[in-house]
Amino acid sequence: MVRNRFSCYCILCTALALALAVLLLVAPTTAYAQGAKGPVSFMNDVAPILQKNCFACHDAKKKKGKLEMTTFETLRKGGSKDDPIAAGKSKESLLIDLLMSKGKERMPPLDAGDALKPEQIAIIAKWIDDGAKLDTGMDPKADLVRELRVRFVPPQPFVSYKFPALINALAFTPDGKRLVVGGNHELTVWDVQTGKIARRVFTRAERAHSMAFLPDGKLVVAGGRPGQEGDVRIYNIDVGTAKDFGGAPSVDGVSDKAVMLKELLQVEDSVLALGVSKDGKKVAAGGTDRMVRVFDVATGKMEHAVENHADWILGVAFTPDGKALVTASRDKTAKVWDLDAKESLLTFPDHQNIVNNVAMTPDGVFGLSAGEDGSIRIWQATDKAKAIGKATKSLPGHSKAVFRLASYSDMKNPMVASCSADMTVRLWNPVAGTPLKTLTGLTDWVYAVAISNDGVLVAGGAANGEVRIWKTADGVAVSNFNATPGYVALKVETPKK
Ligand code: HEC
Repeated sequence: MVRNRFSCYCILCTALALALAVLLLVAPTTAYAQGAKGPVSFMNDVAPILQKNCFACHDAKKKKGKLEMTTFETLRKGGSKDDPIAAGKSKESLLIDLLMSKGKERMPPLDAGDALKPEQIAIIAKWIDDGAKLDTGMDPKADLVRELRVRFVPPQPFVSYKFPALINALAFTPDGKRLVVGGNHELTVWDVQTGKIARRVFTRAERAHSMAFLPDGKLVVAGGRPGQEGDVRIYNIDVGTAKDFGGAPSVDGVSDKAVMLKELLQVEDSVLALGVSKDGKKVAAGGTDRMVRVFDVATGKMEHAVENHADWILGVAFTPDGKALVTASRDKTAKVWDLDAKESLLTFPDHQNIVNNVAMTPDGVFGLSAGEDGSIRIWQATDKAKAIGKATKSLPGHSKAVFRLASYSDMKNPMVASCSADMTVRLWNPVAGTPLKTLTGLTDWVYAVAISNDGVLVAGGAANGEVRIWKTADGVAVSNFNATPGYVALKVETPKK
């Protein structure tokens, strides 16, 4: 199985799918009965099935068989044949015929996947027999993908996780006492010294991909639900009516306006990267739609929309003067964009492989980029010597892909931390281009890294939910815990010979 922090192949999702499959196997009659009982809603019951199994080929772009399903109106208009639905008569409907077909005309096509489950077909058939109506108040011309996104109600997180939650993002609270970790539809907050859970903040986003505290103590988080939606939201994690949830106080960051303060962005797929300007006034975000957008935090307004890469944006940072953005992309390059001139200043192509993240030296002279090739490269980012884009140094050490960089931008003691599939976190002096520390102890790919505001602590978060916090000065571990609420890692006993 390919492990990828952006797609849904994580242990958790696989396990969920398995659990669901088992449930359906154990109770096929109830699942069927539930599907077929009571009124069936097009929006709540039918459209999600079509979206998942059919829209890939029957959207406005592909329109296979000339049929577009992404609005109710176009679905009922039909394709090369007429309306595929005979209202009130599921047995005479082309749609049901094709779903049930044992021949090569079956939908989805044989080579595109399995047939729909009988209970899913039963739901659609019941809806047709009930008159094939659109939910009251819905515009038949409305884009169904958008409507489904608006209607999505995030599930409550697990009280106790049965499987470790992959960590994509970490941030120390400004006082350095707690660490915020991205969980499954929540942010979890942990005491740095004891490694105990302190708080749970429920979120609309299934995953947090990147986060940072603003100077006023609010937390900005980029994340989403793969292939469905993405958002950038600002939270106050210290307020809200806390309810006990598995022994930890939890607050509602989905709808409590005191907790979820502002939504800067909502798009149709995950937002993966986040950067905050040095003065904390601007936030830049990028993701699978290849756009980097810059927002004014105070007004929430979007000020720039930059399209400078040919593939996903995986990393973004402001230059110290806030005038330019450095970006990392799946298109194998790092780039610098001048925000005022609205032009690309340079492209750094040396990685020849996916570039996962970028950072800047505090003097604003050098850019750092890191990626799948396992290297961290330092290059001239500003035009002082007219040598911009030129590689000055490569920092060797990591033996596998480097996922993230975290900066401590202090001129006297500049530090960059990197984390890698080689299971280490490393500290570097980015100005001198020298290694400082190699931090070990994590036992899986380290996807996330963070440095505390005072530069004293560094934390790494791994694919198996493990977090380890070290002192940057001497590399001594402060604490070590699994940031998955309620999860107890199985101890694998080595059999005695
Ligand atoms: C991998 C692509 C693909 C997927 C996924 C897919 N279809 Fe199709 N569909 C096609 C193609 C290609 C045709 C045209 C077949 C032909 O004309 O022989 C078609 C034709 C149809 C038609 C007939 C349209 C007409 O008027 O001729 C219907 C109805 C249909 N699909 C329904 C569905 C449903 C429902 C799903 C989801 C359960 C689905 N399709 C998923 C590719 C797809």
